[in-house]
Amino acid sequence: MPDNSAPLRVLAFAGSLRRNSYNRHLIDAATGSAPAGLSLTVHDSIADIPLFNEDLEADAAGGPDGVMRLRAAVAAADGVLIATPEYNQSLPGVLKNTLDWLSRNDAALGEVLSGKPVAIMGATPGRWGTRLAQSQLRHALAAVGALVMTSPQLYIAEAASALDTATNDFDDATRKRLHRFLEGFQSWIHQLRGERRP
Ligand code: FNR
Repeated sequence: MPDNSAPLRVLAFAGSLRRNSYNRHLIDAATGSAPAGLSLTVHDSIADIPLFNEDLEADAAGGPDGVMRLRAAVAAADGVLIATPEYNQSLPGVLKNTLDWLSRNDAALGEVLSGKPVAIMGATPGRWGTRLAQSQLRHALAAVGALVMTSPQLYIAEAASALDTATNDFDDATRKRLHRFLEGFQSWIHQLRGERRP
């Protein structure tokens, strides 16, 4: 019987390599906005994930170090939180590339995203809040068997006006939205595990 009083461990990462990424700041804000029952660990960056190539898989027995590190972290987590930018009305190539690596069957860990609860969100300086990127990310995650939370959804539009660039903190209204979103994710994970939320 799983212990549903222990905090759920959520691995969080952003689909952007940019130093001042809104989505990376959103992930950082999530760590400070999580409900008590959710413990967030930020995966530093997906910058060390090379372009997917089946030859690299064969050469490095499963994958390069950056891939193996992320795969192990995903496997150990109760859920995964992804913040995606929107590029050309889709998800960024670096994020799709990361999902392609994670989708592969690891000899020891299996398909780490298959059956994994996942929540997606996104921030953009634009007006539509990454709706199209999230839609395509949801589609790709469904293809790898991830259990993507359907509701609530979190679209941060006009992020430049919600972020204080001196502190890199989002404003109160955004942090409240994040908190409610993460409460929803907590419930979603418990629901999938057949548990009542403590
Ligand atoms: C963008 N951007 C963008 N924004 C958006 O809302 N819809 C879009 O379709 C696009 N398309 C797009 C294409 C390319 C190639 C770039 C570089 C940018 C703007 C994008 O939201 C902005 O650069 C964000 O700051 C990227 O997210 P991070 O890196 O701040 O997390």
